[in-house]
Amino acid sequence: MSLSLVDTLQTPRSIWRSASRWLARRMPKGLFARSLLIVVAPMLLLQAFVVLFFMDRYWQLVTYRLSAALTQDIAAIIDIHKNLPNAADEDTLERIAGDRMGLDIEFLPKQSLPPALPKPFFSLLDSALSTEISRQIGRPFWIDTVGRSSLIEIRILLDDGVLRIMTRRSAAYASNSHIFILWMVGTSSLLLLVAILFLRNQIRPILRLVRAAEDFGKGRFVEFRPGGAREVRQAGFAFIEMKRRIDRAIEQRTAMLNGVSHDLRTILTRFKLSLALIGEGPDSKAMEQDIDEMQRMLEAYLAFARGDSGEPAAPTDMRRLLQDLKRDAERHGHATGIELSGDPTVTVRPDAFKRCVANLVANAQRHGDRIALQAVRDGRFLTIHVDDDGPGIPPDKREDVFRPFFRLDEARNQDEGGTGLGLAIARDVARAHGGDITLADSPLGGLRATVRVPV
Ligand SMILES: Nc1ncnc2c1ncn2[C@@H]1O[C@H](COP(=O)(O)OP(=O)(O)OP(=O)(O)O)[C@@H](O)[C@H]1O
Ligand SMILES: [Mg+2]
Repeated sequence: MSLSLVDTLQTPRSIWRSASRWLARRMPKGLFARSLLIVVAPMLLLQAFVVLFFMDRYWQLVTYRLSAALTQDIAAIIDIHKNLPNAADEDTLERIAGDRMGLDIEFLPKQSLPPALPKPFFSLLDSALSTEISRQIGRPFWIDTVGRSSLIEIRILLDDGVLRIMTRRSAAYASNSHIFILWMVGTSSLLLLVAILFLRNQIRPILRLVRAAEDFGKGRFVEFRPGGAREVRQAGFAFIEMKRRIDRAIEQRTAMLNGVSHDLRTILTRFKLSLALIGEGPDSKAMEQDIDEMQRMLEAYLAFARGDSGEPAAPTDMRRLLQDLKRDAERHGHATGIELSGDPTVTVRPDAFKRCVANLVANAQRHGDRIALQAVRDGRFLTIHVDDDGPGIPPDKREDVFRPFFRLDEARNQDEGGTGLGLAIARDVARAHGGDITLADSPLGGLRATVRVPV
């Protein structure tokens, strides 16, 4: 019982939901098109209603009244004609009708009426006149409301002939529909034009904000001045404030790290100096190695903590970058292949990006023998695959290895002296460019690390 109640309650809601989903799918996606639709749709609807309910009624009424008046004149002429004392007075009647009623009439000899014409598409005038003639005159008639555009012709069968009446179409018909439609289309087009210009101006500052935020996300320099409507300007100022705060945080971090690294390096150098002064010995050899290791680790930590702060983006030749890495890997005895497709010049932060790819290549060197580097640049992305033929990383560990200081090698009992920061740094750089790094199986049998950044 309660279930069926819930069912009936949900039915209209689910109908509403699916209807709105249907509408959302068919609505244009862009803000410009949507706003335009919001402006144009009510305008068109309003005009349709006005034409349908008001103008249509109005035209009908006026046309019926005019037709009735015209028919009255014709009826009067027929009555007078019937009672004319002699046939010569027909000329007088024709003259009076022409001068006073605007009717060009002619009494034709006895003949039959032409066959009826097909009904015109807009038959308002035709039907109004036909109704009135049948009602007021009640004789056989023939009308032509289409033939000559500005005139209408009526023929009425009299007892002893045919009365032919020619008159202006406007005498019987409120016939300004084309002007009205012209006005409607004209004003609508004008309104549409104004709406397009106005909306475009409103949307431009939003697009500029979008572009600035995108550039900032990709780590590029952004010159941005808020503009447009108040809310958009507010969003723009909020963005600038956010950017300023992020820049300041990065600056502070860099300054602090520079201080730390300088101080620690000084101490390490002092250590080394003291060791050198003590002279060669079995202990000093081990201590020297420790100091070297410490220095290496310190550099790695600092590089990680520093990130890629402050480096401006610049067009960078990926072919050169990959060739440098290949040369380096080959120097260490690894067979390395390069493949490159698409425009090789990509705007990135050169040093940071090289560090990112180099970290991946260093991993491939450490774990595999053969290495393959493959760069693909399409319209939107630069994708670099670094493949090796090493042991790979099991799928359930592929997220863990990105954590700073996380190393699988310790578990694998092959201490190669890494700090576990390489992938963390690489991902940091890729994300600062608005992209990311993913790990997968390589066609070479080992790991495939993929950097993908928007260009
Ligand atoms: N190509 C690879 N094949 C197999 N395992 C890998 C590969 N690359 C990374 N790993 C595993 O992921 C772990 C994390 O890698 P990451 O580069 O972050 O650190 P690292 O190489 O150990 O040290 P660092 O790069 O800082 O010298 C590594 O310890 C290693 O176990
Ligand atoms: Mg590494």
